[in-house]
Amino acid sequence: MFDSTRRNFLQQTSIGLATFGISGLVLRSEAQPTQEVSRNRSDRILIQMGPVLKDGITAKSDLRKVTPQPYGPFYRTGAPFRGKLSLPGEPGTTFVLSGRVWAYDTKRPLPGVVLDFWHVDIAEKYSNGTTDFRNRGRLVSSETGFYELESIRPIPYRPNPTGAPEFWRCAHFHLVAISPGYEPLVTEIHFQGDPKKNDPMYRPENAIVVEEQNANGRVFQRGVFDVVLERESDSK
Ligand SMILES: [Fe+2]
Repeated sequence: MFDSTRRNFLQQTSIGLATFGISGLVLRSEAQPTQEVSRNRSDRILIQMGPVLKDGITAKSDLRKVTPQPYGPFYRTGAPFRGKLSLPGEPGTTFVLSGRVWAYDTKRPLPGVVLDFWHVDIAEKYSNGTTDFRNRGRLVSSETGFYELESIRPIPYRPNPTGAPEFWRCAHFHLVAISPGYEPLVTEIHFQGDPKKNDPMYRPENAIVVEEQNANGRVFQRGVFDVVLERESDSK
């Protein structure tokens, strides 16, 4: 890794930790590569934050805004930067979520966006987010706005199983996306065909299609969710 120590590398790279969120996960041969890595000692910047795109991705004219959702009670700051949210051996269906972050104003991909995800385990529980960060993690979008994570598939859960045992939340990933100059987006990613889609918070426009795939003799599921951020208004 470069010609300096790992410590120096992290200290001199403003996005040092964030970078591990992207580079720590290589799941499939067709995964999106990062585009350029500067090896100059003078500018230790790994993600090129400019609009230069070399992989043929152009402006997308038909961007649709993402329906926001509330944070809910289980968000915790400080989730680790990583591309795999669940621990090795976490019970559940392995799920790969990927997509691209877009700017609604320019219709182009947005690099360097912090994406903060959290979701329940198959016991309908969130990790506490202080000593236990299972199923929580942050990533940074790549030069082409791409992100990809591996976790387990969230299941529907009862927020209040004793007081309101009949009330189910539909399955969801929570997500907050943060980028300078853009309005923070807080939302939920839902699943098409969810058995609990009678949840009043279920939004079909936020629901991803789930595909089943095989890798290394294992079956896993995957889905794609694109994030669209709106420019921060001048009054703020
Ligand atoms: Fe939730």
